[in-house]
Amino acid sequence: MDKNNSTQKNNPTELFGVFGNPVAHSLSPVMHNQAFACTGYNGVYLPFHVEKIEPAVMAIRTLGIRGISVTLPHKVGVMKYLDRLDPLAERIKAVNTIVNADGILIGCNTDCFGAVSALVQHTDIKGKDIAIIGAGGAARAIGWGIVDAGGKVTVVNRSAEKGEQLARDLSAGFVPLDKADELEADILVNTTPVGMHPGIDDMPVSKRIFRRGMLVMDIVYTPLKTEFLKQARAAGSRTIDGLTMFVLQGARQFELWTGLEAPVDVMREAVLEQLNSPNRIYYQEYSY
Ligand code: ATR
Repeated sequence: MDKNNSTQKNNPTELFGVFGNPVAHSLSPVMHNQAFACTGYNGVYLPFHVEKIEPAVMAIRTLGIRGISVTLPHKVGVMKYLDRLDPLAERIKAVNTIVNADGILIGCNTDCFGAVSALVQHTDIKGKDIAIIGAGGAARAIGWGIVDAGGKVTVVNRSAEKGEQLARDLSAGFVPLDKADELEADILVNTTPVGMHPGIDDMPVSKRIFRRGMLVMDIVYTPLKTEFLKQARAAGSRTIDGLTMFVLQGARQFELWTGLEAPVDVMREAVLEQLNSPNRIYYQEYSY
């Protein structure tokens, strides 16, 4: 780190982290610490293994932690312990980022921004037919982002009840997973964990869904080239890997916390290096 960098001169070290369970394998610490080092921001980011979210939120206040990423299973449960929710997090009903603004804890959701930014790097969303596979928290965040950007969403889900509920909230269409082949979408996004290591040969839908020119995004990034993306490419679709959204949601967090422009390429490189390395850095997680 450059000790002469003006952004950190005379500033005390700020503490950041991620609350999750499990959290030991999170790639957020390496991504954010690399971003701090590269911009000269005097910050440290650590993984916290959190079983009970209420005392963990209290710790943000007592210890003066500047910012927290919230991951599974706390994205919904954390909301009631915060002082404020930004309007987007309120609508999505999930928080993945806490900003400590002079003692006021504000809940935000950057998953939505990450997904939409990843898509708009490749195409306009307005007026496009976009099928979202899955109806969990990730689908909810991405769905709201797409609706706000003027896309026409269809929710595709295994359980009709959960899929129809999300479709109602988004004023979107619903198609059961076993009818997914009949869809004519411009953009297709997988938000289910299907295809994630170790089930790397699995796909959430059959390859008959892919069309030439379709834009296909996966949120799974272990492995980076999921079977879903491989088959999409083979059918002539364009693809966006899961790391893109992960890094962009992290970049947005970095900007909310520091007010600096995020070094997106450096952040992606840091995560890629970890994913490809046989000797991955494991941060000793803090638990209590
Ligand atoms: P998250 O909050 O990370 O999105 P989640 O709330 O557990 O995770 O949601 C996961 C989504 O992936 C759900 O929509 C789930 O479908 P159901 O609503 O039918 O449970 C979907 N999903 C998980 N495993 C799946 C599988 N093997 N095949 C199809 N869909 C699956």
